[in-house]
Amino acid sequence: MIEIENLTKHYDSQSALDKININIKKGEMAFVTGPSGAGKTTLFKLLYLYEKPDAGSITIAGFNTSSMKESLIPMLRRNIGVVFQDFRLLPNKTVFENIALALRIRGAQEKTIKDKVANVLKMVNLRHKADKYPLTLSGGEQQRITIARAIVGDPTVMLADEPTGNLDIDNEDIVMKIFKEINAKGTTVLIATHNIRLYKNSGRRVFFLENGKLVDEVVG
Ligand SMILES: Nc1ncnc2c1ncn2[C@@H]1O[C@H](COP(=O)(O)OP(=O)(O)O)[C@@H](O)[C@H]1O
Ligand SMILES: [Mg+2]
Repeated sequence: MIEIENLTKHYDSQSALDKININIKKGEMAFVTGPSGAGKTTLFKLLYLYEKPDAGSITIAGFNTSSMKESLIPMLRRNIGVVFQDFRLLPNKTVFENIALALRIRGAQEKTIKDKVANVLKMVNLRHKADKYPLTLSGGEQQRITIARAIVGDPTVMLADEPTGNLDIDNEDIVMKIFKEINAKGTTVLIATHNIRLYKNSGRRVFFLENGKLVDEVVG
């Protein structure tokens, strides 16, 4: 589902990723970890085609990103749900509209939008917040809304970069439960985190990055 081969990325003279090889199977849930500056976010930016690698290749959700036309990027992104720290909720739109936007762009019918948004809001246990504005919600609630937005289009792959970054332990557990649920329904999930709690005793593969290199792979 995600094939990463010899992936390399530099920023000026700084090496952010150095010949990374990782293979994530369809339906797998796995983690990428390592200290700050290890290259986790860079890896996720490359996977979402937010930035281009200097060398190596990525195949994700059936697309070989090195050879595909740029015009196909939006189509690829429809198959990928993302929770990134810099993809914030729009403050001037309600929770419902924030989530609905991804479906509206694709020209979905109003009835479908209503059903799907209600469904994902139920999954993250925030159905009663549909008409609220994001900034009136707690940090944990906002993060659950970003996850609802990421899953509303039924992505085949979910990429989450530090999804529990600013959350307390209760919200951490809620967020992880949601990822496990969508994974159980068939979505391939890749999570970047420096938080050992997320992958400890998970039984999932954990890839360790350090200075842009893949230094270890263990089962958490
Ligand atoms: N846009 C950028 N410009 C210059 N250097 C960057 C940029 N993004 C990341 N880096 C550098 O690349 C390395 C990896 O960063 P990053 O992928 O954000 O690590 P992590 O997410 O593991 O903390 C760091 O040394 C960082 O300073
Ligand atoms: Mg990061």
